Amino acid sequence: MMSRLKTPDDLNALKKKLDSERKADRMCVTICSGTGCLATRSQDVVAEFERQIAAKGLEGKVEIRRTGCWGLCERGPIVVILPERICYLGTKAKDVPEIVSETLVAGRNVERLLYKDLETGERIARIDDIPFYKFQQRLLLEANTQIDPKRIEDYIAAGGYSALAKALFKMKPEGIIKEVEESGLRGRGGGGFPTGWKWRSSAECDDDPKYVIVNADEGDPGAYMDRSILEGNPHSVLEGLIIGGFAIGANEGFIYVRQEYPLAVENTELAIARAREYGLIGENILGSGFSFKITIKRGAGAFVSGESSALMSVIEGKVGEPRPKYVHTAHKGLWDKPTVLNNVETWANVPLIINHGAGWFNKIGTEKSSGTKIFSLVGKINNTGLVEVPMGIPMRKIIFDIGAGVPHGKKFKAVQTGGPSGGVLPESMIDTPVDFDRLLEAGSMMGSGGMIVMDEDTCMVDTARYYTDFLGHESCGKCVPCREGLRQMLVILNNITSGKGKEGDIDLLEELAEVMRVASLCALGQTAANPVLSTIAHFRDEYEAHIRDSRCPAKVCKDMIAFVIDEAKCIACGLCAKSCPVDAISKVEGEKTVYRIDQVKCIKCGNCLVICPPKARAVSKVDSIDPAAGATKAPAGKKGGKKK
Ligand SMILES: Cc1cc2nc3c(=O)[nH]c(=O)nc-3n(C[C@H](O)[C@H](O)[C@H](O)COP(=O)(O)O)c2cc1C
Ligand code: FES
Repeated sequence: MMSRLKTPDDLNALKKKLDSERKADRMCVTICSGTGCLATRSQDVVAEFERQIAAKGLEGKVEIRRTGCWGLCERGPIVVILPERICYLGTKAKDVPEIVSETLVAGRNVERLLYKDLETGERIARIDDIPFYKFQQRLLLEANTQIDPKRIEDYIAAGGYSALAKALFKMKPEGIIKEVEESGLRGRGGGGFPTGWKWRSSAECDDDPKYVIVNADEGDPGAYMDRSILEGNPHSVLEGLIIGGFAIGANEGFIYVRQEYPLAVENTELAIARAREYGLIGENILGSGFSFKITIKRGAGAFVSGESSALMSVIEGKVGEPRPKYVHTAHKGLWDKPTVLNNVETWANVPLIINHGAGWFNKIGTEKSSGTKIFSLVGKINNTGLVEVPMGIPMRKIIFDIGAGVPHGKKFKAVQTGGPSGGVLPESMIDTPVDFDRLLEAGSMMGSGGMIVMDEDTCMVDTARYYTDFLGHESCGKCVPCREGLRQMLVILNNITSGKGKEGDIDLLEELAEVMRVASLCALGQTAANPVLSTIAHFRDEYEAHIRDSRCPAKVCKDMIAFVIDEAKCIACGLCAKSCPVDAISKVEGEKTVYRIDQVKCIKCGNCLVICPPKARAVSKVDSIDPAAGATKAPAGKKGGKKK
């Protein structure tokens, strides 16, 4: 039975009690219950552990703990056995009896479930020795894996809410703001705005009431850092928010979270309810006289609603459209009152700064970008997942040491950072340090932490087209430069990628980009041309190949590429013809019987390339339409079958 904590001593006493109940030497099976691992049925693994542990009479000796995301989501479900930290990847319910009898009872590892080093083939048992983890600095993500997010007691036992007690009883609001300023913490939501300045701006406003908000919209394609923190350690965000509220003089906070993140919503709702029962949210927190209320607002999933003024409009019950920013939301935000909006990761850093001090925090990272940053490392990379690294780490280390490089022996081509309005960095810039300012100088940006790795098979014009299409759909349409600029850019990019590009298109794209940058209402439109500009800057030759030669060097743009059969190599097995869904491949009888592809019928699905036996390898993909290579007619709109 949970009782209300009335003083900081009550919180301390509870922590001590929980500590003593948790025997440090007791084995604990932690099973990742983040969204990624749930998708690969970690819930079945939990149920099987419960059955097996009961069957072996190990209850009381072995604890089972469901945790948040461990990071290496692609290899889930992840099971880590404490205290040794033995890590099993891709664990299925059927593996559990063996883990219980071998590891829990006999103390031996189940080799086949351990991480296999890609270079040496060696199995690695301890999670901390796996390269993916070895080079990270997991200030926030490690906590995600140590607690059951549904149990506030786990958070308190790990020292949770001690920063709140310290802030309320040992610090003054001004001192907290100063500490955050001196820590050098910059907003993790994209812009890298200094958090302390923002807090001071609102705190110094002579107006009431004031509000604090958590931005958990996270709409960037491929990004899931904030969602994972809320799923795995919601109390860290709540604690940061309450401290922020106390510092600026706000008694009410909101958490704006996407409805599409149901586990984040569920765990945050539960966390608020439990914190309220313990008296950590509500009236007179821990007897300090400070009262604070938190409400969850669910977003319907519009990218633009992550923008600060649009987000506040949504909380007010209006349409999610940005407004001009000549008046800052720190002064006139929610209901025109002073409002501090910070990203999930920004808030989660606050308890660490209060507990360990600004000096500790600003020693991590670089001079102007302190602390760590979480990235979702995705795309053409061996180790896909969430990584947390100190600011300043070179991109190369993230991609090649942590991410273990590009799969299938392909060549690294570029990395896209900063979300849909970010930019790409080519191989020549792979040593760029991850730092707000250095990434901007390099023509990209930190953004909220999406990091998409691209290999030699990625077409950079098509990539720019994809982001422009995404942003065009997500533009709220309120201002003309963004709405029409994106529409026109997409028309041009569609033309270029379908072989209808014209001389002058690149100049036109650059001109439109400049108008959008200076004339758009909000940062969506102001930055929307970044993917186009950075791909032009670093991969202009690819644009020119599309426009001048009707050629897609990466062999991606369907209207330009072709599949052809090398008649000298064809063994006439007929597998390609059988696999073709549109009957585009037919037998040609002659001196040597071979198969040929009708380029007019071909829909470029690539089945023939995949099915052609390795001993023949007669089918290949070419980067332009070549009538001599089996085409009967070039597709409509082509400049007509140019050879490479
Ligand atoms: C179109 C658009 C979408 C945005 N989406 C998010 C988002 O999903 N999460 C976020 O924290 N910030 C987002 N931002 C940035 C916010 O406007 C704001 O700067 C940020 O939440 C402030 O928090 P921070 O100072 O902690 O970074 C977005 C900005 C724009 C222009
Ligand atoms: S969800 Fe399990 S490792 Fe990320």
